[in-house]
Amino acid sequence: MNASTHTPTATVTKAVIPVAGLGTRFLPATKATPKEMLPVVDKPAIQYVVEEAANAGLEDVLMITGRNKRALEDHFDDNAELEQALAAKGDTARLDAVRRVTGLARMHHVRQGRPLGLGHAVLCARSHVGDEPFAVLLGDDLIGPGEGLLEQMLRVRAAYSGSVVALMEVEPDRTHLYGCAAVERAGEAGPVDGRAHDGEDALVRVIDLVEKPAQGTAPSNYAVIGRYILDPVVFDLLEKAEPGHGGEIQLTDALRELAVSGDHPVHGVVFSGRRFDTGDRASYLRTVIELACERPDLGPDFRSWLTDFVRAGHEAPVR
Ligand code: UTP
Repeated sequence: MNASTHTPTATVTKAVIPVAGLGTRFLPATKATPKEMLPVVDKPAIQYVVEEAANAGLEDVLMITGRNKRALEDHFDDNAELEQALAAKGDTARLDAVRRVTGLARMHHVRQGRPLGLGHAVLCARSHVGDEPFAVLLGDDLIGPGEGLLEQMLRVRAAYSGSVVALMEVEPDRTHLYGCAAVERAGEAGPVDGRAHDGEDALVRVIDLVEKPAQGTAPSNYAVIGRYILDPVVFDLLEKAEPGHGGEIQLTDALRELAVSGDHPVHGVVFSGRRFDTGDRASYLRTVIELACERPDLGPDFRSWLTDFVRAGHEAPVR
């Protein structure tokens, strides 16, 4: 990869957040409530994701919503009645917290209609995004606050053009749960913007991708996680895409076409920071506990209760 051969066509200004999935792993909690609205301490998971986009300078946010997604739209909208009640009580801290949500980003919504897959959800963003590169953030995937992953991916796009995926090394017995990438070293481009600086995550070139490979067949243990910077050329591929794994239109399959053809490079940032999957029950519980422990207002008391709880050696009651 050589920085001089790629000219960035446009800066990324828009974030797309698909939230139209059925959330079946979390039923019955997600029967009438989107999984992205489940609270992580005192904010819904989606708020962390929108904050991450806004912190990276992406203040135009399009949510791809589906059934039962009214709560997601309401969360980022004004709530005059609630604000008046808090103001009347003089509860300025909560009033500020409520107002801050509305001011995070310019929110837009489009409905997916039927959950035909992540690739199809991304295609629903086409008319809003137009012919510009854009970011995709999955609404149930949280990146530790302050990790700077999205910012680094934006720098990679600016330096090398093409598309960028976030990769994480996972245990070999977990590769079948993810899209997995075959990668090669990013070449001798040198430490320009976007290339890994000291303390930044490594940059690789993606040469192949497989969605949820059968056990033992993954091309590597680099799993694709829920952050992408996509070149708009991906829309053309998604238009033509056939259903793939699980009968769904897969974003991974469109990215694979790009990676294999080599005409539009797919770069990978190998993320080594903290990531939380709130769409999975056990991982969701760990997320809430970890982030609660870090909170200055709740953490000290909560940690001490947790320590006592663990010391007491609680075991599940026999039922
Ligand atoms: P997931 O497969 O994790 O979400 O999709 P899901 O289908 O809601 O979850 P389970 O497996 O049934 O529990 C990854 C992301 O893509 C979105 C989801 O909302 C999630 O944020 N998605 C998925 C869509 O927006 N539309 C789809 O058709 C599929």
